[in-house]
Amino acid sequence: MGFVFEKACAKINICLDITGRRSDGYHEIRSVMQCVTFGDDVSVETTFGDGIILECSDSSLPTDEKNLAFKAALRFFEHIGRSFGVKITIKKNIPDKAGLAGGSADAAAVLRALNELSGEALSDDELRVIAAEIGSDVIFCVSSDPSFVSGRGEIIEETAGLSDCLVLIAKGDDGMKTPEAYSILDDMYGDFSARGNAADICRDALYGGDISKIAEHAFNIFEEVIIPRRPAVGELKNMLSDFGSHLTLMSGSGSAVFGIFMKNERAAAERAVEALFAKGAFAVLTEPME
Ligand code: C5P
Repeated sequence: MGFVFEKACAKINICLDITGRRSDGYHEIRSVMQCVTFGDDVSVETTFGDGIILECSDSSLPTDEKNLAFKAALRFFEHIGRSFGVKITIKKNIPDKAGLAGGSADAAAVLRALNELSGEALSDDELRVIAAEIGSDVIFCVSSDPSFVSGRGEIIEETAGLSDCLVLIAKGDDGMKTPEAYSILDDMYGDFSARGNAADICRDALYGGDISKIAEHAFNIFEEVIIPRRPAVGELKNMLSDFGSHLTLMSGSGSAVFGIFMKNERAAAERAVEALFAKGAFAVLTEPME
């Protein structure tokens, strides 16, 4: 019998650009992704049975193959060519449909836990192959280090991330399904050939560590779709800026936004959290995972 606990950390995109359309229906992205210490709690324990049991604290989420964590366990056992009974328990903290890779983080946590329980049956590269079958963000979530992410999400190069700061994540109810957001961008940008190397410039700014320079180059192409159509997202961004956030951006295809405060600005960040709660929004104050 074995038991493994894994933190499934939320990710934010400090920049996210699209530079092309692929023949497999996906898009070429260029992004700097970073995990924060806030996340879901995932535990995996072996059982005397031979199936996969998934229990999730959020009863609105599926507990079968439609849940990426369950799918991860299925794919893992297929790849190693044997299986054993497991019970996966997820305490969900990351909001759904937020652009924070909540489901992907859970799947990656399950892959890491099962690999440990199986006596490291697979190498990191093999885990990434399975991750790619589950979802584009799962590949980054397996390693969770600040990374420049390109291709469909499968090319991961470690890079400098944010450090010595606080990350305030906020989310209202408004959102849009990721494929719909991509499709609106297709209409706006065609083959995306006019997109430059803005994400590369943002990555370089991160090496400098100066938050005002990073903020100057941080951007998310999905804001062009979401903010005009979901004005509440822009309002949350404005709120964070009004409370003194140095860098305020939507994450992924939304609808969560995040704001960066310096460590000695905790009081301002906490006041922002209170104001967000008063508006009925989700809010959490966390830190970058370095
Ligand atoms: O890989 P994942 O299942 O998370 O992707 C969800 C959807 O987002 C895909 O079906 C696709 O429409 C879109 N997507 C994309 N290009 C990417 C990642 C996702 O078009 N690089």
